Amino acid sequence: MTLKNLISPLRLGHSPFTLKHRIVMAPMTRIRANEDTFAPTPIMAEYYEQRASEGGLIITEATHISIEATPMWHIYPTVRQFGGQVPGIWTSEQMLKWRDVTKAVHLKGGVISCQLLHTGRIAQPDVALHPLGIDATELPPVSSSATPIPFSDDVNDQYAWDKPSVLPRPLRTEEIPRLLDDYAKAAENALNAGFDLIEIHAAHGYLIDQFLNDGVNKREDMYGGGINNRCRLLFELIEHLEKVAGAGNVAVRLSPTSMESDQRYFGVDDSDPVTLYSYAIEKLKNLAYLLLTEPRVGGLTDVKEQGLLNRIYRSIYDGTLIGAGGFTPESAEHAIHDGSYDAIAFGRAFISNPNLVDRIKQDDGKNLTPWVRKHFYGGRGRVGYVDYV
Ligand code: FNR
Repeated sequence: MTLKNLISPLRLGHSPFTLKHRIVMAPMTRIRANEDTFAPTPIMAEYYEQRASEGGLIITEATHISIEATPMWHIYPTVRQFGGQVPGIWTSEQMLKWRDVTKAVHLKGGVISCQLLHTGRIAQPDVALHPLGIDATELPPVSSSATPIPFSDDVNDQYAWDKPSVLPRPLRTEEIPRLLDDYAKAAENALNAGFDLIEIHAAHGYLIDQFLNDGVNKREDMYGGGINNRCRLLFELIEHLEKVAGAGNVAVRLSPTSMESDQRYFGVDDSDPVTLYSYAIEKLKNLAYLLLTEPRVGGLTDVKEQGLLNRIYRSIYDGTLIGAGGFTPESAEHAIHDGSYDAIAFGRAFISNPNLVDRIKQDDGKNLTPWVRKHFYGGRGRVGYVDYV
């Protein structure tokens, strides 16, 4: 074993946890929840259990905080074909089923963080009747502003989306406390479900990103305009969740450099991303970790060869920094060795190598099993989900 940095222990930011190694499982939507209740299914507990390790951090797939946050993921052709749903954590049934997941991970000595998601304008109500029996047309997607997702070849190729999106309804200023409370309720449920940490998904073009970036955010109230105003929702949310989970137990994911690559998420764009994200990241204190996306991987495409784009943020952020996006065990080792990141989150390698940590310990991960992309999103059976050995 030569990848010594990857296997070395790490104090996880301001959280009470110390990891035994730096091989983190990245958050990955797999669309295996119950289609009617959005509750995790037993097979999900098996999936996470297979990937848990002693002193290893697992970040869950993005998990809806409320019904408003919940799109029909039929935008993915495989979901239309194979079924399944993205899980939620706003009902007690969802919370109870998540308990099976956290229990399984804890039994193997792992630490587990729940990634909380509000999709904002990506919640498309008109795709089908909502499975919770609600007339979906009563739930128009919300966002910072009435800025629709661009219907362009770029966006559509990326997500295989075959119809224009609905115009989102801008959240009213007086609705923001309700939104923060929706997050807080979800975080409370997550803690009741046994999660160790709460991660705010503020990346990849979802609701918080729709507030951060001026290509979407055209507001004229205290949540729009200058950078400080556009960052306000994120900062208020962190503060709100710290009250629920305790300072040090909240984490954030950002994708600051997606606009510098051709990997733009759901068409989100900013006129000056470096200034925006430098301001935001400099102000992030007391987190368990900050997870940054290296935009080298697309939703339905493979790795693009390029160096690490987030290096400039390392000097701004003095907490635990985790990187994700196109790493091999070897390049992860280098990134930790040269100080670019403190830990690396692996996505696809964890899909097809449930025992990734052991494989890296055995032979530096030189003989990893390749993933099968068609089973990434959606499904009801074991194939491509829990049948990798
Ligand atoms: C992802 N990714 C992702 N990111 C996130 O923050 N929340 C999510 O729910 C998902 N869902 C998701 C599903 C699938 C099937 C993939 C492959 C990826 C992005 C993920 O966390 C990671 O950044 C990428 O997979 C890049 O890392 P790898 O795969 O190159 O190690």
